[in-house]
Amino acid sequence: MLSNTTVTQMSFPHHDFLSIKELSRDEITAILDLAEHYVVQNRRKSQTNVLLRGCMVINLFLENSTRTRLSFEIAAKRLGADVVNMAAEGSSIHKGESFVDTLKSINAMLPDVLVIRHAANGAAADAAKILDCPVINGGDGTNEHPTQALLDALTLKRRFGKLEGLRVAICGDILHSRVAKSNMELMEKMGVHVSCVGPKELLPDLPNATSDMKTGLKDADAVMVLRIQKERLQKTLSFTDEDYFNAFGLTAEKLKYAKPGAVIMHPGPMNRGVEIEAALADDPNLSLITTQVEMGVATRMACLDLVTRKTRR
Ligand code: CP
Repeated sequence: MLSNTTVTQMSFPHHDFLSIKELSRDEITAILDLAEHYVVQNRRKSQTNVLLRGCMVINLFLENSTRTRLSFEIAAKRLGADVVNMAAEGSSIHKGESFVDTLKSINAMLPDVLVIRHAANGAAADAAKILDCPVINGGDGTNEHPTQALLDALTLKRRFGKLEGLRVAICGDILHSRVAKSNMELMEKMGVHVSCVGPKELLPDLPNATSDMKTGLKDADAVMVLRIQKERLQKTLSFTDEDYFNAFGLTAEKLKYAKPGAVIMHPGPMNRGVEIEAALADDPNLSLITTQVEMGVATRMACLDLVTRKTRR
């Protein structure tokens, strides 16, 4: 881990925060170290941080969200920023205003950071071409969810003391999951072995993908469970929720295929009784699901801190 002074003073070479693809292994390590610094600060409940005082953060969430939107708002407020939230509902998007015109109007109001969630792949990168301020990707279609992958990595690193050499099984709808894509990018860079497991129709064509739970979960230190992204499906699934639970829903029985003591993760939102057994999700010894949410705030504080380093007063 880097020293406290190093993480609070390091420079960040990117204007925006759009994808895990654009980050090096060293940058990911440094972001996780900075996020760790904010975990400690948040647990102390010190409310005195004024790092982003005078900064205006706009959360433009054009797709539904609980964790990402709330945690970006809390993160910005904990750093002393002002925050404005905007959703499609109640905006002039419903009067036919285009995405580009919406962004041009936002840019004219001179925000210091724009956090965006959008259903289209590449929307955050498109926004970065229009906005003068840094843009952070809060999830774009099936493309990337970079801050989720970072908070997942922070959760794993805190639990196991390392990332290198861990084995993680990602279980569920891999095909439509931006969480899976960003995690696979990050884990490859950090030396984590990943296997993907799910029904054939929800699996991309990858050498590490299988529809056999026993094979997919073998030796896993952590099982990351994903929901089926029903809003992104192009065609009707060949199975019911009940069929899915029986075949792929993570239960205490199926978890035995993984390493003894393997932990469970889920980015949320969670469908209990579909992709995961309710009791397992709530098991305080095995489930890191609420820890992931806590790490989300610290990780987003680190991201906001880093993208504003060049510009803040
Ligand atoms: N993990 C995640 O992105 O959750 P939300 O959709 O609630 O933000």
